[in-house]
Formats: sequence, structure tokens, C-alpha cells
Amino acid sequence: MTVYPITLTESKFMHKDLLKYPFEERGLQFGDGIYEVIRIYQGSYYLFEEHVDRLFRSADAIKLELPYTKQEMKDLLLELLTKNDMKTDGKLYIQATRGSAPRDHAFPVGVKSNIYAYLNDLPRNLDHLTNGVKTITQRDVRWENCFIKSLNLLPNVLAKQEAKENGCYEAILHREGKVTECSSSNVYLVKDGKVYTHPTKNNILHGCVRMAVERFTTDLNIPLIEEAFTLDDISSADEMFLTSSTSEVLSVVQVDKTTIGNGRPGNITKQLLAAYEKDANIKNPIQA
Ligand code: PDD
Repeated sequence: MTVYPITLTESKFMHKDLLKYPFEERGLQFGDGIYEVIRIYQGSYYLFEEHVDRLFRSADAIKLELPYTKQEMKDLLLELLTKNDMKTDGKLYIQATRGSAPRDHAFPVGVKSNIYAYLNDLPRNLDHLTNGVKTITQRDVRWENCFIKSLNLLPNVLAKQEAKENGCYEAILHREGKVTECSSSNVYLVKDGKVYTHPTKNNILHGCVRMAVERFTTDLNIPLIEEAFTLDDISSADEMFLTSSTSEVLSVVQVDKTTIGNGRPGNITKQLLAAYEKDANIKNPIQA
């Protein structure tokens, strides 16, 4: 995956090889920070406002003061695209930590947040989008504040690795049998023409693609029910899919040993992917 050379750090644009990360840094030592991943299509951000709003919500939730207003942040991120002459499909990664200070759990006083942002190329995964993906289920052992997009991702990393070692793409997480979300995406079950997904409580991330799916289901007259489905519901699901900025609207065709529907992406999932492709202005959509 190509990394574009110009990064943004402390309101400056600099070559990635010049970026120095200090030794005592709260993001590194405590995971004391937040992040966002924003999808880019043909050199333009998708769901830009939603992501920037969530970055500020996450910062507020951990009492982290960002050194920019929302408008300044947006201007800087847009400038990053031009500075890199970004024209392809890709993603932006941005993180903000509580800064560099001698290691001590309590917040340092008078220390500025460290921020950096950079761009990668990221082609759409047409194989996944056409054929769907396999998943496993795992207990959700994360904390109660998963609405914060925090740098503390160890449980997510371990769940994703378990999926990978089982030849799967994602791990579907559950608390006492109620499905919350996946290690790095939101998850949905379709039954009798209705879409079910966990309510946006504190214990899941309110995904930006999920917000878009809320719009698409309204436009398409598909009922979206914010009610957690259970592991037991999975065996009788008509369809399942997951969403994220990197996965888009992605069909789930297998959960553990259970095949979902006929093992191919279902009709509602395809309609929602088509709506996504239209909303994101994607050239050469696969669901025309
Ligand atoms: N992950 N839930 C979790 C736990 C996530 O990490 C993500 C995104 C989502 C979907 O959010 P959105 O639709 O805003 O991308 C849900 C990103 C892509 C990541 O960590 O790489």
C-alpha cells in the first residue's frame, strides 16, 4: 500500500521520513489518544463532516483539547490532499494524543496534543464486495466506552487476528449472546425484509458508514431496527453484512460454521451497496 510522502503534524506539512516521534509519548505509552480513518475516492474524502465531527466528539469524551477549530482541522486535511496531489482511491489516518511528557498516568499540565495525519492508497476490494466474506464470533471483552474512537485497540487487534488465523475476514463480537459490532466494523442482520443492528449506545462505535446506511434504508423504504440481534438469530438470518470506511457495505456469507442465506450476497445488501456507491460517487460501480 503506497504511503503518500507529505504528512501533517503540528499544523505543518512535512515529509514522512522527517517525522520524529518522541520517546515519552502518551499515545505510545498509554494509548491515550483518539483517531479517525476517512475513505477517499478519486482524491476526495467521503463522509468528511461525519468523521471530523466524531473526532471532536471522541476528543471531548476523553477531555483532550484539540489545538484547532473544526474548520481549521477540515482546511488542513483538505490541504493534505492537495499537497500530496492525491487523485486515487485511498484513506486518511489521523490521530491525536495527549502529547509528550514524562510518563505519569494523570494528565500532564500545559502539554499540547500531538497530531499527525497521512494518506495511503487503498483500492476497493472488488473480490470481497462481489463474493462476501467469512467471519467468526468472539466475546466482546472491550470496555464500556466503545463510542470513543480511542487508540486502545488491543481487544480489537486480538479478535481480528483470531479471525485471520481461522481464514476469516472479521470477528463478530457479542456480549452474553447479544451481537454488538465487529473488531473494526458495524454489523447487521436481515430477516424478512428488515435490517437489525445494535443501537448506538456507548458500547459500540457509531460508524460513519452506518449513519449513511440509516439514510439509505430510509430512502429505500427498508425498515432499520436498532435492536441487538443474538447469536441464536444468526442461523435463521436471510442476509448479513458489515460496514466501515474501508469495507464499505460488505456481505457476510458465513459465520463460524453457519452459511448465511444461500452463501451469496443477498438482495438488500446489494441494494445498500448500490446506494453507497451512488452516494460516494464511485466510478465503475459493481452494483449498477
Ligand atoms: N474502523 N466499529 C469499529 C470498532 C471500528 O473500528 C470501525 C471503523 C467501525 C466503522 O466505522 P466507520 O463506518 O466510521 O468507518 C465500527 C476503522 C475503519 C479502522 O479502525 O480502521
